[in-house]
Amino acid sequence: MYAGVTETRSPPITVPMLRQFKQDGRKIAALTAYDASFAKLADDADVDVILVGDSLGMVIHGRRSTLSVTVDDIVYHGRAVARGSRRALRIGDMPFATYPDPATAFANAARLIGEGECAMVKLEGAGPVVECIRYLVDREVPVCAHLGLTPQAVLRLGGYKVQGRGEAASQALHEAALAVEAAGAEMLVLECVPSAVAARIREALAIPVIGIGAGAHCDGQILVCYDAIGVSQGRRPCFVKNFLQEGDGVLDAFRRYVEAVRSDAFPAAEHEYGE
Ligand code: KIV
Repeated sequence: MYAGVTETRSPPITVPMLRQFKQDGRKIAALTAYDASFAKLADDADVDVILVGDSLGMVIHGRRSTLSVTVDDIVYHGRAVARGSRRALRIGDMPFATYPDPATAFANAARLIGEGECAMVKLEGAGPVVECIRYLVDREVPVCAHLGLTPQAVLRLGGYKVQGRGEAASQALHEAALAVEAAGAEMLVLECVPSAVAARIREALAIPVIGIGAGAHCDGQILVCYDAIGVSQGRRPCFVKNFLQEGDGVLDAFRRYVEAVRSDAFPAAEHEYGE
């Protein structure tokens, strides 16, 4: 900063700021991005977190699942996103089968951070993944956990279905959330779970819980950027909203999304799943 020149934009989001946002009751607005242009639009719209998601396998590569995405893919798109963003914290998805054990997880996570310019990595699941999370965190790799509908488990789940419904499933999800937090995860994405289940988990955790199809009681929301502007084709899940319909261009749509998340206007009741 030059003497006498005042920086008007807010400073870059850091990992410790995420927990602080939760403590302050300030909602976190997150979007995916896969290239520099969309990353810049998201950043200019004041999005807090940009996820270089393995959803790129579906929305960029046109596949039916995320299973074919590689570490090279996330590194490639991560670098592009890094060139477009300045303020938002960038998270890179650890693709399917790239964290079978802690040492392999670390080698792949180090690539996402070193080459892909991400500040945090996201891993799906709990169980054996908890050990990977602990191993990464102990080696200075910030981790975002991802529970509920975990798209990398689509073959076992038999489709993209709401998770955590019923006493046993919601209890198992709750315990998994406590386990990933205890292992050192700094944030948790909860996908496609009843909003009442997400609200109880959010209440029990100190780390922020970011929802996608998890209702309004989360500490923040994330959407696939193309879903937020109506680009995605095919069956549209109920939690998706097209902000371009009311907006004047993509930047305005992203700004409306951020504003709607921060003011609790999104998600509304029609975007939620019941127990
Ligand atoms: O890959 C992705 O875009 C994600 C979000 C749906 C959370 O994991």
